[in-house]
Amino acid sequence: MSQTLTLTLRRPDDMHLHLRDGAMLEAVLPESARHFGRAIIMPNLVPPVVTAQEAAAYRDRIRAALPEGMAFEPLMTLYLTEDTDPADVAAAHASGLVRAVKLYPAGATTNSQSGVRDFDKVRGVLEKMAGIGLTLCVHGEVTDPAVDIFDREAVFIDRVLDPVRRATPGLRVVMEHVTTKEGVAYARSGGDGLAATITTHHLIINRNHILAGGIRPHYYCLPVAKREVHRLALREAAVSGEARFFLGTDSAPHPDHLKEHPCGCAGCFTATNTLSILGHVFEEEGALDRLEAFTSLNGAAFYGLPPAETTVTLEKRAEPCAYPAKIETGAGTVTVFDPGFPLYWAVREG
Ligand code: DOR
Ligand code: ZN
Repeated sequence: MSQTLTLTLRRPDDMHLHLRDGAMLEAVLPESARHFGRAIIMPNLVPPVVTAQEAAAYRDRIRAALPEGMAFEPLMTLYLTEDTDPADVAAAHASGLVRAVKLYPAGATTNSQSGVRDFDKVRGVLEKMAGIGLTLCVHGEVTDPAVDIFDREAVFIDRVLDPVRRATPGLRVVMEHVTTKEGVAYARSGGDGLAATITTHHLIINRNHILAGGIRPHYYCLPVAKREVHRLALREAAVSGEARFFLGTDSAPHPDHLKEHPCGCAGCFTATNTLSILGHVFEEEGALDRLEAFTSLNGAAFYGLPPAETTVTLEKRAEPCAYPAKIETGAGTVTVFDPGFPLYWAVREG
């Protein structure tokens, strides 16, 4: 009898997650908590999570929505606005309530209207953050309508990110969901205070998957998937084991009626099957021994957290895993990301 191939990892952390609120939160939280021990929670609710008080209330709603018997620690973030008070941010950090502040350029993506237009207006907050060692998570896309959507990440690095980092020495930055070889190269150009998250879906799809042979709204997210050369650069970075790269799924649920729409929302919902997909990718790249660094060690180290004490075990099955194609929520049906191939790496239950 052949032996089952298994892989035991420290329990993974998702360093970029959208849980939403209300009925959607209730339905999607178990999808993450089943496999992940902690997650950096994005603050782009409507209205956004701007103050320490709002973050504490949101954290309490997440804890209340967690089913009995599941353990999950939400790592809270604040949504940076031009009116954010540096003292409120510092207090939220000092109390251990927040782990990061999220920068959305105004208009860049879902619920980013309250984000930053004039970067001079957030100088004081960024300087305070550099002083206290609080991380800035950056959605790195320019919003200039003259810039092609496929170029918006690379242009952001030159026009915004590099100048902001030069002007704010010591500022810890996570380039969220990098999608380009330029993003990977820039992440590598910084020291210990610069890192990048990589999503599951950007390791699987390129722009053809969205657009060739019919438009597939469930593959549309922001930053939009780029050419194949970029996907390959992301895979190389993810499996490299380098401390600066770690998993942030950007799992972002939207109900089907808003995805399959003339102006469909951006977001791929990958919480349910992310670990199976990553098992597949890392095996394909001959890097199963580096999966734990990507999912469970590098992100925690960057955020100054101890690695998880518990583990999850992946096992390679003979039959494909039976993940649901959709999950029902009180806020509508949500489609689970379809990698387009069967998944044999399953997370062992119990
Ligand atoms: O695809 C995305 N969806 N990208 C983002 O930056 C936001 C997210 C969401 O909140 O739906
Ligand atoms: Zn996101």
